[in-house]
Amino acid sequence: MANERTSIHGIWTSRWVFILAATGSAVGLGNIWKFPYMAGVYGGGAFVLVYLLCIALVGLPIMLAETVLGRRGRQSPVNTLRSLAVQAGASARWSWAAIMGMVAALLILSFYSVVAGWSLDYIIGMGRGEFVGIDGDSAGARFGSLTADPWRLTLWHSLFMLVTGVIIARGVVAGLEKSLRIMMPMLFVLLIILLGYSMTTGHFMQGLTFLFHFDLAEVPDGILAAMGHAFFTLSVGVGSIMVFGSYMPKNSSIGGTVMTVALLDTVVALTAGMALFPIVFAAGLEPSAGPGLMFVTLPIAFGNIAMGQVFGLMFFVLVAVAAWSSAISMLEPAVAYWVERTGRTRTQITALIALICWVVGLGTVLSFNVLADARFFVSDDSGWRLFVWGADGGKTLFESIDYLTSRIMLPLGGLLFALFAGWVIGRDVFRAELALRHPRLFPVVYWLLRYVAPTGVLIVFVTELFK
Ligand code: PFF
Ligand code: NA
Repeated sequence: MANERTSIHGIWTSRWVFILAATGSAVGLGNIWKFPYMAGVYGGGAFVLVYLLCIALVGLPIMLAETVLGRRGRQSPVNTLRSLAVQAGASARWSWAAIMGMVAALLILSFYSVVAGWSLDYIIGMGRGEFVGIDGDSAGARFGSLTADPWRLTLWHSLFMLVTGVIIARGVVAGLEKSLRIMMPMLFVLLIILLGYSMTTGHFMQGLTFLFHFDLAEVPDGILAAMGHAFFTLSVGVGSIMVFGSYMPKNSSIGGTVMTVALLDTVVALTAGMALFPIVFAAGLEPSAGPGLMFVTLPIAFGNIAMGQVFGLMFFVLVAVAAWSSAISMLEPAVAYWVERTGRTRTQITALIALICWVVGLGTVLSFNVLADARFFVSDDSGWRLFVWGADGGKTLFESIDYLTSRIMLPLGGLLFALFAGWVIGRDVFRAELALRHPRLFPVVYWLLRYVAPTGVLIVFVTELFK
């Protein structure tokens, strides 16, 4: 091809590596930790149904848009949006959508690293046999003593961030690609072993029933949560998928690739649910435990069944690997952008940005202990206030960052990316870059992108405002 442009950061050695990287980004704590506990809190099937609809109608078209934009622009998301906007005769301010996405990704990384750090602590705990024969109270107390100890949390958070930074600093092929080629097969093997194991607990059907049985009355509560989670779980709306798209070789079809990624992410979330809930039920526990589900409920179960120690160890290794392959994708858009902007080395830029994220992450560390009483977004009898010390309700700093990113910044970023790809760069550019293998499907895809996905996001925003 005449003007085959390439990225200064590198190119995946094959198109499969994009699938590996995008799946690595998508599959993470969102699937293994968040999805099961949210399904538990929002009552199972109803939440799952809305979640699947949001993935198919909103998440998927936006993921497609991001990949197309990335491969067309061949730069960091910020510069990709800027140059494509200018080429299309539109305002360079479109790049602000990518700046917001980049900030959202770094904010997510700040708390993601802390929670992923818990799994490192649990790997050691499982290895040492701390959970053998453990009862509910002691398991709760162990989790409680971990989250109450800012030093221990900081240690694991630091280690997690350090490894993430080292992978990123080594570059697109020698760092990202090489580590993904090890992490992703490992992740799938571990997950399949665990699923097989949960089938032997004798409570497999009970777990399935919980996940797929639904009660319409439960739907309204879960809708907003499900939509936010659809963005989070697919890593869309932040530029992570876009930046990975910019390293994609030219002659590969985007449509099938993106479908594969979304499908794998969904399969992993459902498999994690199917692997987890039977274990929870087998231990005679409740699925509605919230964020502690994975760190309190599950270890009790592992502590009280044959070979539980081995499977428990495998489980937390799985969590850590899944989290690392996602964490690298949160750092990459910002690193790529600042390398382009300053011309400094990847190592210098990575060190600086990872350090900033690490510092912000200390806020999450402290929100489980020293700052547990600092509450934001409080709404009670005396009305709505941004911040109250010691309020009963409201959100801790960690919960606020989670809320701000997945309920507001990700959907907004995704909306802007969809509008940009659907309405600004032009139909011919989009169609040429997408290069569907079945061109007759194009009108459907384009219609989903231009109308359905933006409307979906807007409906959810408006509902959120008036709820
Ligand atoms: N998709 C990841 C998960 O489900 O755990 C989370 C995530 C990764 C969100 C990358 C945002 C992102 F940029
Ligand atoms: Na996910």
